[in-house]
Amino acid sequence: MIEKVMCDVVLKVMELIPEAERPDVQSLLQSFTMAARDSSIPDWGEYKMLPFGNPGLVDFAYNDWQPRRNDIIIASFPKTGTTWLRDVCRHLIYEHDSIEFQFTKLFLGPHVYLETGTEAKYELLDKLPWKRRVLGTHLSAGMMNLERIRKSGAKIIYTIRNPKDQMVSMFNMMKSLSNPDNQMMQMFPSNFNDFALAALEGKVPVNLKPGQNYFDHILSWYPHRHDENVMFLYYEDMKKNPAEEIAKLAKFLDVYISEEGAKNIADLTSFEKTKQRMKDGVPFQFYNKGSVGNWKNHFNVALSERVDLEVKEKLAETDIKFTYV
Ligand code: A3P
Repeated sequence: MIEKVMCDVVLKVMELIPEAERPDVQSLLQSFTMAARDSSIPDWGEYKMLPFGNPGLVDFAYNDWQPRRNDIIIASFPKTGTTWLRDVCRHLIYEHDSIEFQFTKLFLGPHVYLETGTEAKYELLDKLPWKRRVLGTHLSAGMMNLERIRKSGAKIIYTIRNPKDQMVSMFNMMKSLSNPDNQMMQMFPSNFNDFALAALEGKVPVNLKPGQNYFDHILSWYPHRHDENVMFLYYEDMKKNPAEEIAKLAKFLDVYISEEGAKNIADLTSFEKTKQRMKDGVPFQFYNKGSVGNWKNHFNVALSERVDLEVKEKLAETDIKFTYV
């Protein structure tokens, strides 16, 4: 089901490229189909890939890919607001261009993530008629050639969300994906307490390698927080003051936006409007509560304290501050 949606999008956007220039996307379609069915997850060096991740493409992105000066990359651990940020950028950049605005709306993560698909996807992304590409990645910083990206002028936004809501969000999504055809999703605890403990051990969304859980992901990016082309952005700040955060984001991306314009985008990309707009677009439960504090409906005190302890131990040397309410 999900693979059909992903392949259909590729075929649809191909129509925007003049026939003679269309890339051969057979390998890409095959890789989406295989990745959606295959429960084995490959490694990339000392890292485990996430579902749909292709280690060969990480190599390609690292060694051969030349980002464009105005590329935007949303980097994140899953379930921290990646899709929301992509949508906000989409509104910021293409609001006045209906073709780009429409075709970018079709994209799911794997269409634009640096690590998913095959090299044909890069060719497709190169040839599509868009003035500024909004890409994404769930890679740890150590898996990316950040120096080359910095030199290219491309910008990276790293999203952070409190780990308790992040775990609940992941749990809800994985529960909705677990059906008899999907072996991978059945490997995960079906009660939330066990799921959260597994997440702390880095065992979700797949059996990650030691040192690869959400906190490690943040730690991998943390040293880059002051890089000239990197901006850290908290999900909870976006929830609290969306227009203000959107204005900051626009400034970082060198996009002019009026105060009114930022408010308008905040409204158009609000959770309620987005959920309504996407109600037929994603074939699993992606939009749950979209809130800060939903974790309280799932955590008992002991589990909450266990996460607090982990945060304290893991992030003690940082100024990362999670907001839980
Ligand atoms: P919930 O599961 O808590 O609802 P990601 O895109 O990184 O996978 O993150 C998914 C989470 O972001 C989901 O959280 C989803 O509902 C939430 N989200 C998506 N769009 C949003 C929006 N416009 N406003 C707030 N949250 C949003």
